[in-house]
Amino acid sequence: MTMISNINRDWWFTQDREQCTDSAQFTSETKYQHIDLPHNAKNVPLNYFDETDLQQDFTYHKALVIDEAMLTEHLIIKFAGALSDNRLYVNGHLVTEHSDGYTPFEAYLTPHLKLGENIITLQLSGREQSHIPPFGGRIDFICFPGIYRDVTLERHADLRVKNVKLETLDVLNQPKLQVDIQLDDLTNTWQQACALKISVFDDEKQHVIETKVQVESGQQQLQLILDVNQPIELWHVDNPYLYEFDCSIELTDGVKAQPFRCRFGFRHCEFRNDGFFLNGERLQLIGTNRHQSYPYLGYAMGQRAQALDAELIKQWGFNMARTSHYPQSPAFLDRCDELGILVFEELPGWQHIGDEEWQQRSLDNIRAMIERDWNHPSIVIWGVRINESVDNHEFYTQANQLARELDTTRQTGGVRCFENSEFLEDVYTMNDFILGEGETIVRNPHNVTGLHQEVPYLITEYAGHMFPTKRTDCENWQMEHVTRHLKVLDASMANSNISGAITWCLFDYNTHRDFGSGDKICYHGISDAFRVPKFAADVYASQQLAEQRVVLTPVTYWTRGERPEANPLPLIILTNCDYIEMSMPTGDRKRFYPDRARYPHLKNPPVIIDQLNVGTFPLGDWGYSWMDLYLEGYVNDEKVINVDLSANPQPQELTIELQTEQLWANCSDSMRVVVQAKDQNGQLMPYLNDAITIQCSENLEVIGPQVLPLTAGSAAFWLKAQQSGVGELTIQSQRFDRQTKHISVLELTANGSGE
Ligand code: GAL
Repeated sequence: MTMISNINRDWWFTQDREQCTDSAQFTSETKYQHIDLPHNAKNVPLNYFDETDLQQDFTYHKALVIDEAMLTEHLIIKFAGALSDNRLYVNGHLVTEHSDGYTPFEAYLTPHLKLGENIITLQLSGREQSHIPPFGGRIDFICFPGIYRDVTLERHADLRVKNVKLETLDVLNQPKLQVDIQLDDLTNTWQQACALKISVFDDEKQHVIETKVQVESGQQQLQLILDVNQPIELWHVDNPYLYEFDCSIELTDGVKAQPFRCRFGFRHCEFRNDGFFLNGERLQLIGTNRHQSYPYLGYAMGQRAQALDAELIKQWGFNMARTSHYPQSPAFLDRCDELGILVFEELPGWQHIGDEEWQQRSLDNIRAMIERDWNHPSIVIWGVRINESVDNHEFYTQANQLARELDTTRQTGGVRCFENSEFLEDVYTMNDFILGEGETIVRNPHNVTGLHQEVPYLITEYAGHMFPTKRTDCENWQMEHVTRHLKVLDASMANSNISGAITWCLFDYNTHRDFGSGDKICYHGISDAFRVPKFAADVYASQQLAEQRVVLTPVTYWTRGERPEANPLPLIILTNCDYIEMSMPTGDRKRFYPDRARYPHLKNPPVIIDQLNVGTFPLGDWGYSWMDLYLEGYVNDEKVINVDLSANPQPQELTIELQTEQLWANCSDSMRVVVQAKDQNGQLMPYLNDAITIQCSENLEVIGPQVLPLTAGSAAFWLKAQQSGVGELTIQSQRFDRQTKHISVLELTANGSGE
């Protein structure tokens, strides 16, 4: 018997809040749309949309057929994420309400079910209602309505393990596992004692802990402290070792109860006055802020896309992500656990604090966030203050107290953007946008906190709106963008009191009219909305060890006349090589080293070639013939990479990069496809603006338009799949040959997957 099943398929969707108790209506009335979850209630174009179109009410219905066996069990429905002001009805009766759009909710269905067909109805709203956080003020992002994560149906016996909190204690000396188990007597009639079997497995499925405890009748909470009697592997960003926890109830009469399972890690983390320490060692935090949205589909892109964002974060050299400005997809957090990305998770909010009722909802959000995510080893700090809000002694005292009560192992932070704010958290977390005002690059923590003593301190945003940059912007602009990221990163490392810095932000995102470039996009990302990187992404990628990934990125399109005064200098080359050698067809050759004088704190400063160090190397004075440039990167005196820049770039190839090898059929699985115009040296052709036409076999679906312009040489889109088999994707353009790619589409196993 499948005890937890995903019920994402076959929902009926309509606008407005409404009721319906007979599935015959769904097929007979045209107002209903047959859909699968996750679902975005209102798709929008990439840009230039009217966000008030999203501000409507919507209803989702599902016909659930209940047989006799199911009526003898206890059924619980769980919504992992639906935005917002949710009201759940069963056969027309209100069963539960959940106003927040980012945290999960559940309902015990059984008392409301009958044999045969039952109609589950979820009404929700895209209206930005001022009594529900984050609403009430203005917000620099779009909150996309819909049931945008998984819905599952759980079948339980009378007693279930509702939640478990795992706290790893004294991990560096005598590791222990503190286990807090919350039981739920679904019928309130549970009269017998029972046993709980607890197991912890390592990643080879070997037992590390195995024990049994007795539960007295009526007992709902229990706490155990379990010794670990063998060497453990610590979780670390470079070795994200996960253990699996399993707790099963052994009921009498051989009745099977649904076990509770989760993964966790043994690790110790602490923000101190002298930085962030992971397992006792200082780790410089290099982070990025991330929204969970995607072009066209908002939040409803599915688990794989969310998880792949974590992969990009890792590949691009970050060790931390902030879930700005709400609890994000469990799939994203799971992948952070697996990849070794530290997470700053925060409650929903943006600058505005509402009245008492609003604040209570906010406290409820903190509880829901922590209770959902306390077992993720990746999460190292809870953000318990509404991003960039004013001080509010009472509200934030309660917020901190609640977080500390719920979780004794993690510190709290609260993101502000002004100096001398009341410090009620454990870590002073500050959005520092000072660069550009005078000489200061990052603020001195003492000036920010106004406190005499040092306190743990983290920069939670920088860059962003201070220098919006599009992939289509000219080279000089992109160079300044890169320089600003380099400067803040370097300065954040200069002061050991600063634990690190988290940039604003990972990708360009949709926003309200009060922000952005008038087209409802904030171009604040180090990549565009399709996650195609700008030059600035390699500021971070180049901070990795060359063994992880060699980076050699000249911040140039290598043209005679792109920059003002036709001056190719300064030339910034982002790299993690020890040095680079530059040559030209003239035979001139010169070695250049990373500029440690300008960026003394970066692990891998860029090479910067300017009038001072170019010497006689002929980097193209005005009137000289424009020539190819060859770059070679060396590590330990060995050549590890070369990049050739042509003086005469010619369209050579339209590359089509598929983000994954296959797609799962008939679910929310998606694959990003990046199409790029490349020259004879494999360099992107930023001004080749062909239109591309995308054609697919019947079992593939393009999310968004099927005719796209190459923008700064690239076009990207996501694909979904229907029936299994081989899918065919054909791309046509004016300048390149037509190309076809084959994608295998696989059938999912019974339980389904994908948000
Ligand atoms: C911050 C804010 C972010 C984003 C950013 C743009 O003030 O916290 O959400 O709006 O500015 O740079």
